[in-house]
Amino acid sequence: MDSAEVINEVAGQVAVCQKCNLHLSRKNAVPGEGPAQVELMFIGEGPGFYENEQGRPFVGQAGKFLDELLASAGVTRAEVFITNVVKCRPPGNRDPLPDELSACRGYLERQIEALNPTVIVTLGRYSMAHFLPNAKISSAHGKATWVNGRLVVAMYHPAAALHQPSLKETVLADFSHLPEFIQQAKKVQQVRTSGKPSAAEPAAAPAPEPAQQSLLDLFGAPAPAPEAPPSPQPDDGDDDSTPVQLSLF
Ligand code: URA
Ligand code: SF4
Repeated sequence: MDSAEVINEVAGQVAVCQKCNLHLSRKNAVPGEGPAQVELMFIGEGPGFYENEQGRPFVGQAGKFLDELLASAGVTRAEVFITNVVKCRPPGNRDPLPDELSACRGYLERQIEALNPTVIVTLGRYSMAHFLPNAKISSAHGKATWVNGRLVVAMYHPAAALHQPSLKETVLADFSHLPEFIQQAKKVQQVRTSGKPSAAEPAAAPAPEPAQQSLLDLFGAPAPAPEAPPSPQPDDGDDDSTPVQLSLF
């Protein structure tokens, strides 16, 4: 099956899925949308009111802000894939429950494998926790981590910035680094596939901004083994988290 076929198959399965109780209250499941192979994939939490109405991801207020963020990073919706960790709306927009997250996990994993994105951007804690179960968003946001050979960049959820205006600048600043992360990830992929960076590109990225990790950091030593994974903690805004781990290759 090629990637478009897998993406379509997953969408068909999600549309009629009854693997968790969220199917009971949904109007439309929201499998996600975008091209079948992408450089950039965005993963949010779960459909909200308008997404449930339309069966499309990020079409409400948070979606409008996401469009602004994408534009600020120089990308358009048409070139990225956008989905969520749960494909059906949690009633009243409550947080997804652990059994709902685990019931839905397989769909996201098939999508990731088919899309084969260079960079995955997680929007919010639940999406981040799929890849980095021990990270805290207050310290992990804006940072990139290699997870199973893909660069995962954790961002605050756009809706968090709408509810907490002080976060808006932070989210915009984090998104402004996305193009550099994409460039870095592409170089690492080139090294992996061909053994050397392409002739057209310099071997080393220019020194990144302080919030960035350099290529050297990205190749750095793996972090210690993660502790037992807790379910995601509510973001209490503290900053006492463990450093973001680098899971390499
Ligand atoms: N919030 C999300 O996490 N996902 C959507 O699709 C819409 C809002
Ligand atoms: Fe199925 Fe996921 Fe919807 Fe639950 S949230 S019913 S697992 S598609």
